[in-house]
Amino acid sequence: MADIRLEINGPTRLHGAVSISGAKNAALPEMAATLLTPSPCQLGNVPMVEDTRIMLQTIARLGGVGRLEKNQLRIQNTRLTTFEVDRELARKTRASLLILGPLLARSGRVTLSLPGGCPIGERKVNYHLDGLSRMGARISQRDGRITAAADRLKSTRYHFPSVSVTGTENLVMAAVLAQGTTVLENCAREPEVDDLIDLLNRSGARITRNGSDIAITGVKALCGFTHRVIPDRIEAGTYMIAGALPPNEITVRDCDASHNRRLLDILTAVGCTISRGKDWVRITSSPAPAPVTIATRPYPGFPTDLQAQMTTLLTQADGSSTLTENIFENRFQHSSELNKMGARIRQSGPGDLLIKGPTPLRGATLKSTDLRASAALVLAGIIAEGKTTILNAMQLFRGYERMPQKLNRLGASIKSIKE
Ligand code: EPZ
Repeated sequence: MADIRLEINGPTRLHGAVSISGAKNAALPEMAATLLTPSPCQLGNVPMVEDTRIMLQTIARLGGVGRLEKNQLRIQNTRLTTFEVDRELARKTRASLLILGPLLARSGRVTLSLPGGCPIGERKVNYHLDGLSRMGARISQRDGRITAAADRLKSTRYHFPSVSVTGTENLVMAAVLAQGTTVLENCAREPEVDDLIDLLNRSGARITRNGSDIAITGVKALCGFTHRVIPDRIEAGTYMIAGALPPNEITVRDCDASHNRRLLDILTAVGCTISRGKDWVRITSSPAPAPVTIATRPYPGFPTDLQAQMTTLLTQADGSSTLTENIFENRFQHSSELNKMGARIRQSGPGDLLIKGPTPLRGATLKSTDLRASAALVLAGIIAEGKTTILNAMQLFRGYERMPQKLNRLGASIKSIKE
């Protein structure tokens, strides 16, 4: 895959409206859920990003027949021709892990490469495997490949030791065709999980949620579904944080503000002026953002996927802010890149960042390490004095649809150059 370099000239003021795409982290499990039925399925508002394209290729390699164009997915997995998830594709994105539950439930067998760790942390899969083995799957691991097999999965009660988003999604999908009623405890409460549950119930599953417990009563078969993916709350949050950078004002459209409550509380504490409607939020920056103390938590807490972008904003706050990352063990790599631009960020503990501001940022040549860190560096390049170059920026296109174009329409000056 060719890489991309971004060249950003700053500082530029961002103002105007931006439209939010469908949620990558809802579309991915929902695309995997199409494996649960041989009937035709349709998904609307699918973001056209690298991760959804790879997910479609992965399903096609299993024998599925689908087309993803102009944000619409039409797919039918009538006959699956193999149980082996393509090694090469599984290496590219961790989301291939989401094939595990549905393929095992549908075909009784699946072989998958262990998704590698990634820059933000080890990304273990033990909860996924423990839960499936509790449901009767025979799990074996050999040279980095997992094989799971089960004639028919049976119900169980499984308590997640800690919250796992895709762990919850995988076990829910595995349980929809299992025998009896499965009860999962300490499940993720992210809106993407509930969007998946909504879709499955509308295709004949019997799933109920009670706080962080989810009960799934197995059914014989699921019918096809037509569903529209919810808006991407992390993309929306990224543009809300962009609007909070002085002297910007941005209206974020086609979003669901109720999914960004914690962020909006924080931006209010930072001093932003916020107005909102049913599917839009306007953020007007404060000329002197106030420092804040933030800790990332599973939903409805402050999302780890907005931690890097928030770091960029807090370099402009008038005082010292602290950011505690509780979800992943290594998600601070953007801070050394921001320091190259003049930020004053230091790690004050294994999961704590101390950010002193305000610090004027100047353009620099930066390396992006992961999807959300890339977004943080783009926001920094927009407010920095001079030219910022971001190398291996392909990561950005894994999870943000047309981000340079959307930002340029708001007043940024970003060029994408194929390396
Ligand atoms: C999902 O990843 C998201 N990805 C991530 O978004 C997001 O950062 C993360 O949830 C947390 O909100 C998708 O939904 C495709 P986890 P996931 O399982 O499910 C530990 C982005 O930028 N854990 O909730 O992989 C794990 O090590 C991406 O869009 C175990 O120990 O995350 C981590 O420390 C990045 N054992 C913590 O739990 C397990 O079996 C949370 O992981 C599973 C997880």
